[in-house]
Amino acid sequence: MSTTVCRTRLSRQFFRALQLRRCYSTPTHAPVTLLGKEYPRDATTNITSAIIDKVGRNLYMNPSHPLGILQSLISSHFRDFNSMTGVPPVVTPAQNFDDLGFPADHPGRSVTDSYYINRDLMLRTHTSAHEVEVFARGERKWLLSADVYRRDEIDASHYPVFHQMEGARVFSSDANGKAEVQEDNERLSQHLARSNIIIEDVPHISPTNPPQDVHDPVLAELVAHNLKLSLNSLMLTLFGNRAGVNEGEPLRVRWIEAYFPFTTPSFEVEVFFRGKWLEILGCGVVQQQTLDRAGVPGSISWAFGLGLERIAMILFSIPDIRLFWSQDPRFLSQFLAGQITTFKPYSKYPACYKDVSFWLPDTGLHDNDFCDLVRDTAGDLVQDVVLVGRK
Ligand code: PHE
Repeated sequence: MSTTVCRTRLSRQFFRALQLRRCYSTPTHAPVTLLGKEYPRDATTNITSAIIDKVGRNLYMNPSHPLGILQSLISSHFRDFNSMTGVPPVVTPAQNFDDLGFPADHPGRSVTDSYYINRDLMLRTHTSAHEVEVFARGERKWLLSADVYRRDEIDASHYPVFHQMEGARVFSSDANGKAEVQEDNERLSQHLARSNIIIEDVPHISPTNPPQDVHDPVLAELVAHNLKLSLNSLMLTLFGNRAGVNEGEPLRVRWIEAYFPFTTPSFEVEVFFRGKWLEILGCGVVQQQTLDRAGVPGSISWAFGLGLERIAMILFSIPDIRLFWSQDPRFLSQFLAGQITTFKPYSKYPACYKDVSFWLPDTGLHDNDFCDLVRDTAGDLVQDVVLVGRK
């Protein structure tokens, strides 16, 4: 048996509150209310009110929130892709897992890893849960941004709610499709050749990262190459030539073979940033069963999924993932739509206003002398100085 040791820096009061909650927690028969809809509970229900409170916040849809700024930057990079938002997070385990080929015993399915509303419905753990329905609508170039939910540890880089963007591009698996991929690969290769980027690559397909039997290996290779070129170009938009970051130096991008149940070949992308390799996204050539399930025969597609928080923390220098949920104006007022700026830390305690009064001598000290004295001593901490009366 394994033992988990939880360290919390919390007071005795917190533990008392926990005990009280255990006595007075929501009766098991009360339905779960999510986005105005009621769902019956059962023995599988493990969603908590702290999580329910987060559903519908849609941080990534706020254009002047770091997550919204990053979401817009990625959407505008993929200019001719249909960028979807606002899709509710309630999905079936079939959408989240089965349709994507997750095995029946995959640990992600367990109630210790995912949030279940009841045995039939859960909160999506990734945006890939919507692949089948979006492909089924006939979308060929699309992005989908959404909140995703995973039960996880508590620290500065994990939070049970975070945001992902899924992107996919479908080609016809005939001569027209092949010509379209080739043309796009040519265009993207030229763009990358003119850019300051060094790419450490792995083969597009290999025995350890094979194409699918149903695919023409030449086309599968072209599509995997298109995926890589498209994402290298995104990495340039996100990380290339950012003031203070890799200044003048080439951007370094590294491709690694990976495994996902719903893609093959599969890859992960890492970027070298401020002295470290950072994992940015997962991607691959979509398993044909996903496209079959969506009812779009004669097609081949690539897909990628990336976490917005991880990238936003790097680009905006935000040290703690919990800050994204802050409603403190000292956080929110720092960011402007369309701009990547460096976060300026502030006290984690709320502002505390203090009025201080001074009696000044009748002569020898001008109001402005006093103001300079204040400025010198307290700098920008002082909001204003008001003369309240004169004898
Ligand atoms: N859904 C995967 C994840 O959350 C990422 C991914 C998306 C990988 C699309 C491949 C293709 O880790």
